[in-house]
Amino acid sequence: MAQTFLSLYWYDQLLRELGIRGVIELGTGSGILTVLFGLHCPGAVTTIDLIDRRDERTRDLHQRLGITQSGLDCRRDIRLAGDLIAALPTPRLVFCDNGNKPEEFALYAPMLGSGDAIAVHDSGTEFFSDQEDTQRVAAAANLVRWRQQELDDDETLIAAWVRP
Ligand SMILES: C[S@@+](CC[C@H](N)C(=O)[O-])C[C@H]1O[C@@H](n2cnc3c(N)ncnc32)[C@H](O)[C@@H]1O
Repeated sequence: MAQTFLSLYWYDQLLRELGIRGVIELGTGSGILTVLFGLHCPGAVTTIDLIDRRDERTRDLHQRLGITQSGLDCRRDIRLAGDLIAALPTPRLVFCDNGNKPEEFALYAPMLGSGDAIAVHDSGTEFFSDQEDTQRVAAAANLVRWRQQELDDDETLIAAWVRP
């Protein structure tokens, strides 16, 4: 589903409150949300998509913000994607928004370091944070839920965690 205006407010809050300095977005799509990440963390955003769907003006804007786009497969090229994450300044946000969100969460949550955050879009429609597998992954990665009530109240479809 598309991002809502209220979700933009909450991405902004998350980036500010947690002092995020680098972002990796799994699933670029049109690249509009990537702009918000790039405004917060110029030169420190990587966005991954199997297919580059950005139009020319968005590509140009991404270039001005120092956003790097990669054509990796987030579910197959795990080691390479991990290298991209490792290259970002900390604390980092991993944003899961591509084909299989529960799988991405399980693959990438263990890569977080102290202070890093992970957020998943389409929570409640494609991703269910109360599922046993997801809860096990979050517990194993030592993750703490971030502002669940407010995100749910505002129907943002975002689930977010931070690793203390
Ligand atoms: C919902 S869109 C992303 C939307 C974007 N994050 C936004 O908020 O505007 C999902 C994207 O994930 C990409 N995708 C799906 N599976 C993928 C994979 N295994 N690796 C990389 N990208 C993938 C699709 O090509 C699609 O463009």
